[in-house]
Amino acid sequence: MGNLGKFIVFEGIDGSGKSTQIKLLCENLKKRGILCRQTLEPTYGMVGGVLHDILSGDKKADPKVTAALFVADRLDHILNNDDGILKSINDGVTVICDRYYFSSYAYQSVEVPREWVIGANRLAAETLRPDATIFVDVSADTAMERISKNRDNIELYESFERLSKVREGYFSAFELMKDEEKIFVVDGNRPVEKIAEEIEKIVMEKVFSKDL
Ligand code: TMP
Repeated sequence: MGNLGKFIVFEGIDGSGKSTQIKLLCENLKKRGILCRQTLEPTYGMVGGVLHDILSGDKKADPKVTAALFVADRLDHILNNDDGILKSINDGVTVICDRYYFSSYAYQSVEVPREWVIGANRLAAETLRPDATIFVDVSADTAMERISKNRDNIELYESFERLSKVREGYFSAFELMKDEEKIFVVDGNRPVEKIAEEIEKIVMEKVFSKDL
């Protein structure tokens, strides 16, 4: 069997700029000859489709149901035989994922007890733990400013109060999980290229064990 791919996760509140950074990291890894694929949660698979409808407001669901759907979507994302994450990793492809279980810990725990959310995600965590979780940190103020400039429609969780709570939820989950997870917080308030440079350095050194 050849080398396994790595699994790198990006997290951040809505409007943190993580999508731009994911694109740049993938390009930078490819330049270094590393096979790499981008993916995201919620997915556009069978469960993810329902989640997108809930986020846009087209469908209504109790927060507990939404939390359970995120878990089901995640397991399908990891395990499915067509484009599942494990399949790519086993094929030697590094997977960069926009959001993973820390999104559930931060977002769903606003309305559902955090212990439940963590317990429900345990199978995902035990099956596939990220080689690095990169948190692109911006304040809720900055995030809301960017969201209102760039979007026509505001999604379910996109309000100042909610994003402030979510950001706090991330930090308290990071503290709780600091012994079993590899978490890197980067300051997302700087120019795009500066942030990309720092992320590339973290990934090369900590994930691929190569000094830059
Ligand atoms: P994004 O496209 O900006 O990443 O938005 C996805 C939305 O889904 C975002 O508001 C966060 C939310 N979400 C959760 O609430 N829980 C989760 O587990 C995931 C993956 C996403």
